Amino acid sequence: MNKGLLEVLGRKRQNPPPVWFMRQAGRYLPEYRAARERAGDFLKLCLTPKLAAEVTLQPVRRFELDAAILFSDILLVPYALGQRVWFVDGEGPRLAPITDGGELARLKDGLDHARLAPVYEAIAEVKGKLSPSVALLGFCGAPWTVATYMIAGVGTADQSPARLFAYRDPQTFAGLIDLLVDSSVEYLAGQFDAGVDAVQIFDTWAGVLPPEELDRWCMQPTSRLIAALRVKVPAAKIIGFPRGIGSGIVRYATDLGLDAVGLDWTADLDLVREQVQPRLPVQGNLDPLVLVAGGTALDHAVDKILDKLSQGPFIFNLGHGILPQTPIQHVEQMLKRIRG
Ligand code: CP3
Repeated sequence: MNKGLLEVLGRKRQNPPPVWFMRQAGRYLPEYRAARERAGDFLKLCLTPKLAAEVTLQPVRRFELDAAILFSDILLVPYALGQRVWFVDGEGPRLAPITDGGELARLKDGLDHARLAPVYEAIAEVKGKLSPSVALLGFCGAPWTVATYMIAGVGTADQSPARLFAYRDPQTFAGLIDLLVDSSVEYLAGQFDAGVDAVQIFDTWAGVLPPEELDRWCMQPTSRLIAALRVKVPAAKIIGFPRGIGSGIVRYATDLGLDAVGLDWTADLDLVREQVQPRLPVQGNLDPLVLVAGGTALDHAVDKILDKLSQGPFIFNLGHGILPQTPIQHVEQMLKRIRG
């Protein structure tokens, strides 16, 4: 049986389009909240293969989605580099922040694969339980986005700590980015070895940088990451998601060597249809808030996206992660609308 999502990544349009959504395993699902409670701690959930696999499969079972995305977190890379990482309930991630070159030098010079072994085990576990028509996705954060958390030690509204660091000490910052490029290549190659069909690179904070810095800290490192991954895994299928990049999406989609590009909910779909989709399959981009709202606003938003993008190679997704307050009936309404 063919995996519709992989067909689209091979530039073959599917009707209806395959669908999955970012953060599809998460707090809006009662079965996730139960598993999360059993694990106690978010990192423990990520690092217990049986539980991580179970949570990965929950939304696929409930909604018959076309892809499972490995349940994990982008901050496992800093964790495997020896940085202290923990999650505060109801608040988010915390890391022991990297404030100077001295702190950076204390990290390991490569990934501690033993720390990531449970992730690879979870992939193998999911793989064994997935229907042959469903694709299994791995992922990592883009070097820039991961670096913003490593430097601030916490989520911030505009990533000013990392931007300041990069302006004040670009050489040290480049060292961190290079370490993350190499580590991400290793990590994604490990995920492909363990059995994922494709990977997504999350660049959640691409949108806070001016053009020159966007090129230097997002586009170029991600391009190096992709080229190096293709040396190790020639058949790798790779989706890039540069949130907030605006019209930069055209160059991002053209120059980096990706197989598909993910759109956030602000993307200009006429621009995308004319200048991106003829070259590359696209994925996106329902506003997560319209999924919370539901009703006719939701129907209208789904129709608009299908109208603009479903004539070419297209994967339906949200423009960012599903929100915890999303009613499950709204997800069902959305899927019915997409599948006709
Ligand atoms: O998409 C999926 O279902 C796979 C799982 C996944 C998680 N995080 C689980 C998670 C993925 C792909 C991520 C990626 C991730 N993690 C990103 C990039 C994508 C994005 O959403 O922007 C970022 C920036 C992180 C870092 C991170 N992890 C933050 C900022 C937070 C706190 C915000 C929040 O939603 O609570 C997390 C925690 C996290 N990662 C949760 C989940 C399900 C919630 C933790 C919980 O259950 O309490």
